[in-house]
Amino acid sequence: MNRRSVLKWISRAIGWTTALIVAIPGASFITAPLRRRGQSDAIRQRVVKLANLRVGEPTQVAITGSRQDAWVHYSAEIVGRAWVVRETDESVAPQEARVKVFSAVCPHLGCVVQFNTERGFNCPCHKAFFELTGKPVPEAELGHKNPTPRGLDDLQCQLVEDEQTGEWWVEVQYEKFEYGLTAKVVRA
Ligand code: FES
Repeated sequence: MNRRSVLKWISRAIGWTTALIVAIPGASFITAPLRRRGQSDAIRQRVVKLANLRVGEPTQVAITGSRQDAWVHYSAEIVGRAWVVRETDESVAPQEARVKVFSAVCPHLGCVVQFNTERGFNCPCHKAFFELTGKPVPEAELGHKNPTPRGLDDLQCQLVEDEQTGEWWVEVQYEKFEYGLTAKVVRA
């Protein structure tokens, strides 16, 4: 191999190496949203102390977490809201206490449902109403069509004792669900 050929090979090798250095991160960046498809966005976090909840008075809590859109990562912001409903009063030991947690997203078209002292929860957008159990209020009782296709989406939750303070917390697994469907389907 003469000197000219060697220089040609070296030049080609440098060219290929440079192309790979640029192409690999670039491809990874472009395909990131596709690779995330199907991954669960569930967030598990402590949202409220049991001692701060009262029976018959649902408490709205904010879910914070990082959020990723197609290509940008946003850290520590409010990504959702939920309603925590205490079902047993203070006479029941914390480890036996029962709470329910519902996503605050209306299953009709995604507005945020409010607590309604007269009648469980209501959605201000198209007048959907829900009982404290999360079930839709029947049409006959409402006097108009209830537009929601299903009840409020319940979220997995558990009571956990803080190792340092001994206080009991409600820990929630927050997920988003498709709205407009009769079935509860996790949003991909
Ligand atoms: S979005 Fe709630 S009733 Fe339509």
